[in-house]
Amino acid sequence: MKRRKKRIRKSIYIILILIIIIVLILVFKKDKYNIKLIDNLNIEINSTITNLDLIKDTSNCNIISEEEKIDTSKLGKKDINILIKDKNNKEHNYPISINIVDTTIPSIEYKDYLTTTLGKKIDLLENVVVTDNSNEDIDISIEGDYSFDKVGTYKLYYVAKDSSGNVCKKEFTLEVEDSNMVGNNTDNIIEFTTSKGFKGITKNGVTYIDGVLVVNKTYSLPDNYGNGLTSTTTSAFYKMQAASKLENLNIYLSSGFRSYSTQDRIYNNYVARDGKEAADTYSARPGYSEHQSGLAFDVNQINDTFNDSAEAKWLANNCYKYGFILRYPKGKEDITGYKYESWHFRYVGVDLATKLYNNGDWITLEEYFGITSAYEE
Ligand code: DAL
Ligand code: ZN
Repeated sequence: MKRRKKRIRKSIYIILILIIIIVLILVFKKDKYNIKLIDNLNIEINSTITNLDLIKDTSNCNIISEEEKIDTSKLGKKDINILIKDKNNKEHNYPISINIVDTTIPSIEYKDYLTTTLGKKIDLLENVVVTDNSNEDIDISIEGDYSFDKVGTYKLYYVAKDSSGNVCKKEFTLEVEDSNMVGNNTDNIIEFTTSKGFKGITKNGVTYIDGVLVVNKTYSLPDNYGNGLTSTTTSAFYKMQAASKLENLNIYLSSGFRSYSTQDRIYNNYVARDGKEAADTYSARPGYSEHQSGLAFDVNQINDTFNDSAEAKWLANNCYKYGFILRYPKGKEDITGYKYESWHFRYVGVDLATKLYNNGDWITLEEYFGITSAYEE
């Protein structure tokens, strides 16, 4: 009797354990769908992304929600709901919490050289254009000390800051000159107006036309000018390089800044090889190379083998978006003074570059400003 009772109790235990196992299996099976989200749920403001882009992978379920663009126009947390159907055809809401962020720094279009005469105030923000990926108004301020009542060369900064704290800082020069000096053609200041009506100034041997530094066969640079590519030039180049990578293109710097003495060596090597007349068609004399300005560079193969490459074509059609111009276009040899160079680019800022791009029919700096490019002798 006792043994029988014991056996019944044992059976009950076994049945109970079996029931627990079955229930566990059922519960486990019910929720066994899996959704893997993209690694970074911080989404850039005003970027284009859909609800389904947030999902990297799914298993044991089907997504029912239709693809829908997410409104990324406002910063902050946002909840997205995805409807799914599990293996047992049961529908579930799958909430995803994303964060709309702004990590892009504003960009500033500006003139890097402004000049005025003693006591004459000018609006330093007049030609400044700030753009940002957000729709907000960007604060722009000027950093540094200056006075319109004191002759001097002031190194100042434009500082643009968005509300997420992304800051863009660009250096520019304000020249406050003694009015007696201006127009006097003294050793270091020559003012002139181009045939197209632009104001030019050559100061200490450096020529700016409408605030843009110009180097060609007419306008040279002093021997000691320049010390590398400017930071604006390199950062715009890297932006352009990153964009070209997305198109599977490989663009790299081959020759950036060249000092007066480097150009002297290069030019004279060409003269020894091809003669002066030929060398002048493709190599600048020392002091006359844009490479000495820190605003120009060559990419990839520095010869005609680059002309028909996918990279050259892309650059000719897209460089202006990053502030660069194709400096020596085909067919403009008599205007620029140089043969076509598919590899040589010059930073002028997006505004001017877009004008000169001219929907693919490049205008040269010489044509735009109404200036020559010819050696004196
Ligand atoms: N090849 C260009 C013109 C230079 O030498 O600067
Ligand atoms: Zn070059």
